[in-house]
Amino acid sequence: MLLRSDLIAALAVTAGIGLALQAADHAPAETAPVSADVRLEVSFANEVMPLFEKHCWECHSENNAELGLKLDTYEGVMAGSDYGTIVEAGDADASLLVDMIASGDMPEDSDPMPAEELDIIKAWIMEGAQNN
Ligand code: HEC
Repeated sequence: MLLRSDLIAALAVTAGIGLALQAADHAPAETAPVSADVRLEVSFANEVMPLFEKHCWECHSENNAELGLKLDTYEGVMAGSDYGTIVEAGDADASLLVDMIASGDMPEDSDPMPAEELDIIKAWIMEGAQNN
């Protein structure tokens, strides 16, 4: 898996060339202003979808959509089940998707999703549940 720190470093290098030239007189390169808190957004396609594939597609995909819920496309995830939406963009706590995983109800009949994987899904929702 590609590390965020690597991506951030790559971006910092690209963006930093101009800055470094400008700032050469003022600050040594080691103190370049890249905060440890800088985070890139979670990618739906690269980070969230693989979790659905691993834990959910068996029962929630085009071929077998329990309760009409298809988690194999962005549109399917946002459309939700026969009962309605399962993702409230920007509010992970109000999202049934998170609730069902956190409570252990889903994935049905298998081991719970590891907390760090659920955290990725939560972060994606908090960032606006984008098709990114
Ligand atoms: C072995 C089959 C199976 C797997 C795997 C599975 N589900 Fe389900 N899921 C079901 C069934 C059956 C229902 C409907 C009955 C129920 O709610 O228990 C359901 C219902 C749901 C609902 C409720 C929809 C609503 O509107 O009430 C959500 C949300 C959900 N699943 C999400 C997931 C997610 C996310 C995963 C993967 C982490 C997952 N499921 C994995 C079988 C499965």
